[in-house]
Amino acid sequence: MALLSVKNVSASFGGFLALDDVSLDLHKGELLGLIGTNGAGKSTLFSVITGYIPKRNGSITFANERIDELPVHIRVRRGLARTFQVPREFSQLSVFDNMMAAAPDLHGERLLSLLLTPRKVAREEKLVAERANELLDFLNLQRVSKEPAGKLSGGQKKLLELGRLLMLEPSCILLDEPFAGVNPVLIEELAERIKNLNQQGMTVLIIEHNLEELARIVPRMYVMDQGRVIAEGTPESVLSEERVREAYMGGVV
Ligand SMILES: Nc1ncnc2c1ncn2[C@@H]1O[C@H](COP(=O)(O)OP(=O)(O)O)[C@@H](O)[C@H]1O
Ligand SMILES: [Mg+2]
Repeated sequence: MALLSVKNVSASFGGFLALDDVSLDLHKGELLGLIGTNGAGKSTLFSVITGYIPKRNGSITFANERIDELPVHIRVRRGLARTFQVPREFSQLSVFDNMMAAAPDLHGERLLSLLLTPRKVAREEKLVAERANELLDFLNLQRVSKEPAGKLSGGQKKLLELGRLLMLEPSCILLDEPFAGVNPVLIEELAERIKNLNQQGMTVLIIEHNLEELARIVPRMYVMDQGRVIAEGTPESVLSEERVREAYMGGVV
């Protein structure tokens, strides 16, 4: 039984069909990959799954419930969260404050709760700060926690993006090109952290355009091309398909 199930989903921008009858199953506890060349529709699929872009046809089910008509924040509350291809940190804020700002429900009702139960709010804020610090330790960002996020390297920004995502306490994370623009040393670290999370039970879907990189970490992957899923299986089986080689590498390899 799939945790996340995308069935026959289409989506378009004006007259352009960016997703054409896409189906994908992500199982609970799985570490799944999604590859495809630039413009294949990978990020659009993430946006449709998480509610940033409406679908035209098809259905999306998460934990046995239809989610495709729900707003983004409700999908997040159900445990489904994504990163963006370009990290969206608040560059003026410190790394720690970026983590705090990502926590759900801490800000909206704060004023009212401060008036009513200041001690409860203080306690909650302390718990959130503890969680932020645990995650900063886990991501090896504690050293830079007081730095403005804008000063981080590209790779550290990706780690922070992952940290901010984890502040939402999701059960399923969708990572959009987490390794793009990250130096090789940090790629190793990031890949390790993602594997650790998965071993702790997190369900993970990773978009990557670097086929070799992805093949090293995931046991199963989907391949997209021109808005369609063209293959699915183990990295070896997928890579041996003529259709994938043609679409992905122009038949060169
Ligand atoms: N907001 C948008 N408006 C119009 N076209 C878009 C938009 N976002 C993506 N596209 C187009 O949809 C296609 C798929 O894009 P995208 O999902 O970003 O591909 P990928 O992530 O696989 O590189 C591309 O042709 C892209 O130009
Ligand atoms: Mg993309």
